Amino acid sequence: MAEFKEISPNATAGAKLANWFDNRFPTAGAAYREHMSEYYAPKNFNFWYFFGSLAMLVLVIQIVTGIFLVMHYKPDAAKAFESVEYIMRDVPWGWLVRYMHSTGASAFFIVVYLHMYRGLIYGSYRKPRELVWIFGCAIFLVLMAEAFMGYLLPWGQMSYWGAQVIVNLFSAIPFVGPDLALLIRGDYVVSDATLNRFFSFHVIAVPLVLLGLVAAHIFALHDVGSNNPDGVEIKAGPKDANGRPVDGIPFHPFYTVHDLFGVSVFLMVFSAIIFFAPELGGYFLEYNNFIPADPLKTPLHIAPVWYFTPFYSMLRAITSEMMYALIACVVAAAGFGVLKSRLSGLLKAVVAVAAVIVVALMLSIDAKFWGVLVMGGAVIILFFLPWLDNSPVKSIRYRPGWHKAVYGVFVVNFVVLAYLGVQPPSPIGERVSQVGTLFYFGFFLLMPWWSRLGEFKPVPERITFAAH
Ligand code: HEM
Repeated sequence: MAEFKEISPNATAGAKLANWFDNRFPTAGAAYREHMSEYYAPKNFNFWYFFGSLAMLVLVIQIVTGIFLVMHYKPDAAKAFESVEYIMRDVPWGWLVRYMHSTGASAFFIVVYLHMYRGLIYGSYRKPRELVWIFGCAIFLVLMAEAFMGYLLPWGQMSYWGAQVIVNLFSAIPFVGPDLALLIRGDYVVSDATLNRFFSFHVIAVPLVLLGLVAAHIFALHDVGSNNPDGVEIKAGPKDANGRPVDGIPFHPFYTVHDLFGVSVFLMVFSAIIFFAPELGGYFLEYNNFIPADPLKTPLHIAPVWYFTPFYSMLRAITSEMMYALIACVVAAAGFGVLKSRLSGLLKAVVAVAAVIVVALMLSIDAKFWGVLVMGGAVIILFFLPWLDNSPVKSIRYRPGWHKAVYGVFVVNFVVLAYLGVQPPSPIGERVSQVGTLFYFGFFLLMPWWSRLGEFKPVPERITFAAH
């Protein structure tokens, strides 16, 4: 046991209480110092660095409002819809709690998408932060599962049919698919059994995993230290007499205050939506979901909520016609591997045989399955980003101008895919989403090649910072 620290009898009551506490629970004080008052973060953080703390804020909002919703919600196919209406109309402040939770779901994805994009443009996924990124990607996957299962709970038409469509996708997987879909639903169609299991996962299992992953994400980040808009490692720079990087400032109080500003702006926008436009034109709460689920009446147009639609567009883009374009890509990649790369003769033979097998499978298995694979692959590919980027610099600031344009087009493409995913299918929309899907995958799969090209600017030794 550590020695008890004595404190002057003249100390303030607050200091005495803190000392009493610290003597009995030194771990808490040590954690506070490690992660707050003595966590040295680069001094040049900009607004992009708000979104990590905002994601934590939204996580807390979701958990707290979720706890209150569960007090009145009934996970029963015969009562779920009514119980949500009851929360909206009769439970004191129930409408606020429900709108905070439904707006919170969309806010979560807005914040997380911006947070991920920050990582992308500043190369925050690169050595030594690969694990921070991987935990982040796992969080993103789990968050999607959480949102998907939560969306079934109000038991409206979109809840019901959206779940039906997405769970049915699993049945496109050869051999195990139909049984897997049955296992997820617990029935042959989406039913009370599905509602019960989704409720159970949504309120306890998945949030626990999410909290664990967020903890791992932050601990891993604090072990290696934060990146910054210059992509320069402050730990590699000069240090003061105590061994602390001179380009770092303690997280508390500097970044707690900085983040509080972000929180204030966020809460203004968040409240404006909750009070004035909680449905946000049908994007945050779809109009069809104000109609109780009816297993006998399929809505004319079924679309997932906006945050899933970029990926949903990619799924719809994979038609049997598109399969020929994908086969051409596989053949081109294999041709490059065999003719142009520096692989050994044996590996070249393996590549050629693998390509023949993949093409044969692509010709024989239904396009729907490949659509599911493309949709899943669009998320899974993010995990590999640290090993795809070969750029000699981390931050976009020191990359060639045209790299910035590529990152810009990436955003526009993602937004267009999101928009198309909300719209009913159309021939032109289909073509655009096919080009968008090829661009999305091309961006990542060709990154080992294009990220090295062009004229890079010299990276400064120390971070650049102009106090404003
Ligand atoms: C619930 C969701 C999440 C929470 C609560 C969260 C929280 C945080 C926090 C508090 C930070 C430090 C502050 C900051 O740099 O903004 C951070 C950093 C980071 N996060 Fe997340 N995060 C989440 C999701 C994600 C996702 C989905 C990704 C990527 C796929 C990701 C990748 C990163 C990276 C790379 C950093 C280091 C950034 C840097 O040092 O420049 N995070 N996260």
